[in-house]
Amino acid sequence: MPDSSPLPVRDTAWPNLHVSRHPAILHKLAILRDERTEPKKFREVVRELSWLLGYEALADVDVRPIRISTPLEATDGHQLAVRIGLVPILRAGLGMVDAMLELMPTAEVWHLGLFRDEKTLRPVEYYNKLPDSATVDLCLILDPMLATGGSAAAAVEVLKRWGATRIKLINLIVAPEGVDLVTKAHPDVEIYCAAVDRQLNEIGYIMPGLGDAGDRQFGTGGSQ
Ligand code: PRP
Ligand code: URA
Repeated sequence: MPDSSPLPVRDTAWPNLHVSRHPAILHKLAILRDERTEPKKFREVVRELSWLLGYEALADVDVRPIRISTPLEATDGHQLAVRIGLVPILRAGLGMVDAMLELMPTAEVWHLGLFRDEKTLRPVEYYNKLPDSATVDLCLILDPMLATGGSAAAAVEVLKRWGATRIKLINLIVAPEGVDLVTKAHPDVEIYCAAVDRQLNEIGYIMPGLGDAGDRQFGTGGSQ
């Protein structure tokens, strides 16, 4: 039985990791993992899970008080006080952007292109159009999978060099190996996810995982 609390759980070994236990997330995660789930449904569930995880990841962002008028009278309200940057990691992170923009319509979107070399499992950067200096207060890196952690750590390094001061990672599924790598290298980065899986296999795939998140979203898995 999963933990019945809908609140994200924190692991003492990884104080920066937030694992959601929300029933809606648990339900959707099983659909996402299922090998019978076709790309159209897979994309839909990536989007829904991203919204739910994004909602949790944004729970502590600052707001400032504002004064507004309803049709009936003046009242107090709130406005976001931070500039948010969404950083989807191409390709698989693309499917997470729309949901996050629904949550935070004023967010800026800065794409980073990284792919994992199949032999070395090391990330290779192929796209980066960040401007000279940071334009946002909080960066949310979007990537469905945190496997060895190499891609996430590389993205965090790029963003820190850019001048980002606060960075959160939003992943759907993480492997313990990747969480270890990112939290050791960047203890200031918080990670939000729907599940911590068992381990990586010999070719760096998360077990039980969901397979290749990019291929399953974009229908490029061939005979896989
Ligand atoms: C996947 C995934 C992450 C990376 C995770 O991307 O979306 O970016 O692998 O692996 P790591 O933690 O070991 O670095 P992939 O390289 O398959 O590229 P794609 O999104 O273009 O398919
Ligand atoms: N990238 C994926 O898409 N899936 C994995 O299991 C590992 C890396």
